[in-house]
Amino acid sequence: MSLVAGVWGFKTLAVGVELGLFTRLANGRTITVGEAATEFDLAERPTDMLLAASASLGLLERVGTGYRNSELAEQFLVEGRPYYFGGQIRYSDLRTYLPWHRISEALRTDRPLTWDPQSQQSMFDTSDPEMISQFWDAMYSTSSFTARALAGAYDFGTHRALLDVGGGAAAFPIELCRRLPELRATVLDLPHVCVRAEERIAAADLTGRIGTVAGDFLTDPALPQGYDVILLSMILHDWDEPTNRALLAKCHAALPPGGTVVICELLLNDERTGPPEAALMGMNMVVETEGGRNYSRAEYATWLADADFVDIRTVLFDAPGANGAVVARRA
Ligand SMILES: C[S@@+](CC[C@H](N)C(=O)[O-])C[C@H]1O[C@@H](n2cnc3c(N)ncnc32)[C@H](O)[C@@H]1O
Repeated sequence: MSLVAGVWGFKTLAVGVELGLFTRLANGRTITVGEAATEFDLAERPTDMLLAASASLGLLERVGTGYRNSELAEQFLVEGRPYYFGGQIRYSDLRTYLPWHRISEALRTDRPLTWDPQSQQSMFDTSDPEMISQFWDAMYSTSSFTARALAGAYDFGTHRALLDVGGGAAAFPIELCRRLPELRATVLDLPHVCVRAEERIAAADLTGRIGTVAGDFLTDPALPQGYDVILLSMILHDWDEPTNRALLAKCHAALPPGGTVVICELLLNDERTGPPEAALMGMNMVVETEGGRNYSRAEYATWLADADFVDIRTVLFDAPGANGAVVARRA
């Protein structure tokens, strides 16, 4: 039954975010069912159920006759807070859940459901301003958590220059540069994404240390040089094996001897039985990509060895966008 009701929990969270419930309750404000019904222009019975269900999920807590934000909601669901997670919630709600409803079609056709391969090169190749803001805000809100977990598990302190390939809105460079004053970083991404990254970098006051390079890692013959570490976060799960092998070869060619590549992903176990976060992200890749899937660390290790990387190892951690990173060095 908990599997059956999974979507009920998600939609309770999503409608709370859509209404701005948690933002309106910022800073410890308490609201009764009657007050909420009036404020959000809702009928009293569903408002009662919404607040009770939100409390049951740990998003609200009871105070006297009313409800207020839990610590979780206060920190992550109030718009404007540094680690606001609403981007991911809105993107999933508006962009992926209806296509997921047609998953059997994706299984039969082996084609994505969230975009049209006839008119787009990939899901990232878009001029739709809503998609641009929703997807990259979603990535930013997830990846700022993952970046902090990665920084706790892998020491970037020995590196000076990071190239974040497909770095999106710069969540990893921002988190890593905040921690490591010696580090500078560059986001390589598509031109419309570099614009989003620059906004985030400026807002974080890191313009002097983090730059962007507009490029296409699939078609550009080479990646930029001058970096001692290359990060691929949630990149390789978007593409098929030949594309990934080609990209790893480009990483190898761009790094100096001793340079490091870090593949940060939700890694499938080698038996291909889980964990669920990785296996279900793989299903999401069926919905959202043409050739993507979640791979195991053994698969990454094989490709890295075949691309002449050495000292291949895995660091494990717990984060929303990754459960580990496969790290390797150019000899
Ligand atoms: C799933 S997102 C991951 C973003 C970021 N690495 C993170 O973990 O937050 C994939 C990223 O790859 C970028 N990307 C996709 N195709 C690309 C290409 N051909 N060249 C450069 N960047 C690309 C997308 O624009 C997007 O920002």
